[in-house]
Amino acid sequence: MNIVTAGAATQPVEHLTKDWDRWERVSLYLDRCQVDTPDELVLAAWAHISQLRHTVGKVIDFGAGDGRFAQAGQYGSYTGYEIDGRRCAAAALPANAKLVNACAFSYPIADADVAIGNPPFVRNQDLPSGWRARVAKLLKDRTGVSVSGLANAWQYFFLLSLASLKADGLCVLIVPYEWVSRPSARALREHIIANKWDVSVYRLIDTVFDSVLTTSSITVVDKRSRNGDWQFFEETAEGHYALLPSPSGSSQGVIPYLRRSEASERSPRAIRGLSPGTQKVLTLTEGERVRNGLEIGRDVVACVTSLRQLSNGMAELTEAVFRSCYRNAGEKCWLIRTDSLPSEALVAYLESVPKADYQTSTCLEREIWWKFKMPPVPEVLIAQSFKGRFPKAVKNVISARAVGGVSGVYGLDDDQSRTLCGGLDDVDIRERVVAHSNGLRKIEVNQLNALLNDAFANQ
Ligand SMILES: C[S@@+](CC[C@H](N)C(=O)[O-])C[C@H]1O[C@@H](n2cnc3c(N)ncnc32)[C@H](O)[C@@H]1O
Repeated sequence: MNIVTAGAATQPVEHLTKDWDRWERVSLYLDRCQVDTPDELVLAAWAHISQLRHTVGKVIDFGAGDGRFAQAGQYGSYTGYEIDGRRCAAAALPANAKLVNACAFSYPIADADVAIGNPPFVRNQDLPSGWRARVAKLLKDRTGVSVSGLANAWQYFFLLSLASLKADGLCVLIVPYEWVSRPSARALREHIIANKWDVSVYRLIDTVFDSVLTTSSITVVDKRSRNGDWQFFEETAEGHYALLPSPSGSSQGVIPYLRRSEASERSPRAIRGLSPGTQKVLTLTEGERVRNGLEIGRDVVACVTSLRQLSNGMAELTEAVFRSCYRNAGEKCWLIRTDSLPSEALVAYLESVPKADYQTSTCLEREIWWKFKMPPVPEVLIAQSFKGRFPKAVKNVISARAVGGVSGVYGLDDDQSRTLCGGLDDVDIRERVVAHSNGLRKIEVNQLNALLNDAFANQ
């Protein structure tokens, strides 16, 4: 065990992570992990603990960074686990606190009174594969839970925290608010429900973490009471918490998630926008296309990565709209073609892309870094993030491909397209979707499919 006290040497992170994956993948993961929790939030987490416990003995913190959660609160002992020695080196800890420079999943702890922390927020695609396989198995053995392959890093740390507590322990973590409803966290929720632990989730005002595009929460799981109560709160502008009637805040509850197998065969279907691997180089602006001598049709096809440019009430993406709002506006609007033999110009363009511009897990996993599968042309393009009553949707007159946060809807007739582009007859779904970030709501594709199925399956 490599215990760190102030000023002590740590182990090179390359050595500690040598079994996780290739170093470039590990370093991508570690870069994405590095977020510092603001002091107010550290104090707020401890305030929740002191409301529920008079005295606290052993505290653990997985992914402890510089051990900042050790700086507040009253406790018998604090042990933080941090893989990155550079983070530990900056720590100045109280006498009853220590940092262990190792993977958080290396020790079979089961006697902690409190688990606290802000686990890493890293998407499933960016998790080191060897690490993920090992910790998924370890968690399955310890908790019986199979973590979804789509789970973000924080889920593994959340389960580890629960498993490392005594039978009456308390878990207080900063995790994305969306864990209360996202399908990828279902197994985690079911585990908590099956154990009848009490849960309080405090949705925080959006601006807490500038660099992480998500709404965060302080989530409290109390293993002591065993009533199985779940409560949801929203932070107010004055810094208090208001009780919410449901996770989304609506008395109608969150829009359900409909799997493909549960939808009617006749229902139109939304499919998530293409993730080409890197929009930076695989989608182009008009200027980039022209400068690289790429021809429309032969080398590139129209695409949209956002509907933000379109004014409310615009129902069709026509040539004129595409020209003024995308081509002339310098927006990314061309997707390279991967379904035909690339022309000399396209080959020259792809060869000119600096290696550093495609170091994403999606590109690195491909045999040919740029060769994604060309998506089909949808009838309607719909944004997943929205501020108004309903996500923006437009009829796809120009046969553009849906990319990134714009999804495509397939199998609609003209009437159905009109209804969808009119906000499914002007419904207000704002309160039925959990908050995402910066005042934005984000509807998941399977929630869109639930709405489409409700509206059109019986027509
Ligand atoms: C979101 S940061 C939080 C840091 C600090 N606790 C704070 O709140 O400011 C998550 C930390 O987890 C660390 N980490 C990621 N994977 C880890 C692992 N397997 N074991 C231990 N620490 C890990 C990262 O290096 C990073 O410092």
